[in-house]
Parts: sequence; C-alpha cells; structure tokens
Amino acid sequence: MDLLKLSPEERERALAGIRNQKHPIYDGCMLPKFPSIMANTEKYMEAVRNFDSKESDILLCTYAKAGTHWVHEIVSMILQGGTEYTKGHKGGAMMERDVDQLNDLPSPRFINTHFAFRHLPKKHVENGYKIIHVSRNPKDVMVSFYHHALNDPFAACAEEDFPGTWSDYIQDMCENRHNFYGGFVKYEREWEDAKKTKAVTNVHSVFYEDLKKNPVAEITRLAAFLNKDLSPQLIEEIAEKCSFWNLAHAVKSGKKGVDYVPLFSKNKKNFIYRKGTTGDWKNWFTVAQNEMFDQMLERGFKGSDLKFKYKL
Ligand code: A3P
Repeated sequence: MDLLKLSPEERERALAGIRNQKHPIYDGCMLPKFPSIMANTEKYMEAVRNFDSKESDILLCTYAKAGTHWVHEIVSMILQGGTEYTKGHKGGAMMERDVDQLNDLPSPRFINTHFAFRHLPKKHVENGYKIIHVSRNPKDVMVSFYHHALNDPFAACAEEDFPGTWSDYIQDMCENRHNFYGGFVKYEREWEDAKKTKAVTNVHSVFYEDLKKNPVAEITRLAAFLNKDLSPQLIEEIAEKCSFWNLAHAVKSGKKGVDYVPLFSKNKKNFIYRKGTTGDWKNWFTVAQNEMFDQMLERGFKGSDLKFKYKL
C-alpha cells in the first residue's frame, strides 16, 4: 500500500492501523514497522545480511537520532563536490525500507541504516568497504527519540502506549523494554568491540557533538576519509548549508524536494528537524531520572572506553 496515494482520510485510517500494530522483533531487537520488515522479518534480515555490497558502497551507520539526516546531507555534498541540497529524504537509501531497491541506486551507493552491527551486510563488513559511524550522547538521543516516537507511527505503538508520557518512556528506556534496534548501550558497545577487535576495519567515527562544535574540522576529516580533495572554501560552504537552521529551512521550504514527513506525522510537522542542539536533555530529565539513567549507563558501559559529551 502506497500511503502517499491515499486520500487524507484513508491515510489517517491506515496510519492509525500502523500505530496500533506491535513492532517486529528480530534477534532481541525491536525494529520499525516498515511494511518490508513486517511482511517477513526473518527473510528481510537475511536479505540485508546477504546484500550484494560493492566496493564503492558507503554505509552510514547510526543509532536512531544520532544525526543521520545531517551527516547524510554533508556526505552527499562531499560526494557531489558541491553544495546542492539532495532532493528527497535519506529514506530512499535506508536499508530498512526496501533492501532490493538499493541495487538500483547509482554508484557510489550511499546507504544508511540503524541496524545493529551484527545485522549489517556481511560482504560490506568482511571486505572492508567504507563505513561512517555516527554517535551522539545517549541523553540527547533519548529526548530526540521520544519526540520522534510521539509523532512517527512506524516507531510508536498505541496498543502498548509507547512512548506514553516522558516519565513512563524514560523508565522504559532504563529497563531497555522497548529496545529499539537492541537499545542504545548494546548498539554502541557492539560497535566499540567491533572496532577494537578489528571485526570492522574501514570505519570512520564521528560524534554529533564534535560536528556541532567544529563542523569545518569534522567535514574536512570526512572528506579525507572519502578521498575527496575539497577546497577549504567549499568545506566552509557545506558546513554553512548544512547548519541546523539552513538544513531545516531547506526541508521546510521545499529546496530539498517535497517533504513527506508531515503527512505521516501525528502533529503534522516534520519530526526530524526539532532543535538540533546539545544539552536539551537538561530540559527533560528530572534529577531522579538523571540518576536512574546514569546508573543504567554505568552498568551498561562498564569496562568501556567510550566517552560521550553532554554539553558543548
Ligand atoms: P533533536 O531531536 O535533538 O533536535 P536523525 O537524523 O538520526 O533522526 O537525528 C535527528 C536529530 O538530529 C534531531 O535532534 C535533529 O534536530 C538533529 N539534526 C538534524 N539536522 C541537524 C543539523 N543540521 N545540525 C544539528 N542537528 C541536526
């Protein structure tokens, strides 16, 4: 069913139906309710694992809400060697949407996913093809995902009252109950282990907070990883074009093509470009919730060398 072809009333009914459905679960991970995954989860995940990767493919791997759209736009401009906004949504090259359709993308195929490291295409990882891994501090990720799940029927579940109130949600996250993509801690620990043990080799790591603080330096590093020799002026222009305000405005004004997100969103707004800051978590976590969350992080990241930045 193509939701875009339905009348507004039919679409609302269809979206309510999706909102009521339970999430598919695979290998301990709660996955989004995209029709392709819902139809046959095991088969779909097998197709992802066996995806016929090419040496020129670039995989953008992030835990949901780590800044995927932002880095997607930056990398698209680096690859293009210019500052034209890409038309459309990064969803067209999202591994979760329709893995078969990715075959038809022009090279270099720039594919994005939130799937856990162990679920990525085997060929891509084993052959050492390029991967960009973006991380963000877990408290801002939690707040960002809460707002996303309030509005995105593919992430929410009315039957289970998810995400519910902020208070219910953050408790739920501390207990890793609705463990989207396996949960933040597991996701990032798996990446850390893979980098340490060299299970993954050709990977470039970016932190949202570093990109926010020093976009020019981070875009320069990204361009070097992608073997693109860009002038300092072009890098400055990319940083400027992809600043939160400019990118959000480009989406809203149609410069990036038609924005379909509001059509699916419960509040009829684009739930991707919300605040684009570091430290918004302080407006949401109570002192008690912050303590509970810190304890969960301490347990989860015991023995890890990962350090997240909670303010700039
Ligand atoms: P907030 O909800 O905290 O505002 P993803 O693309 O992985 O879904 O991540 C979305 C988050 O990245 C949102 O965070 C969004 O506002 C933020 N974001 C998007 N574009 C950005 C930009 N150009 N600069 C900074 N943050 C950006």
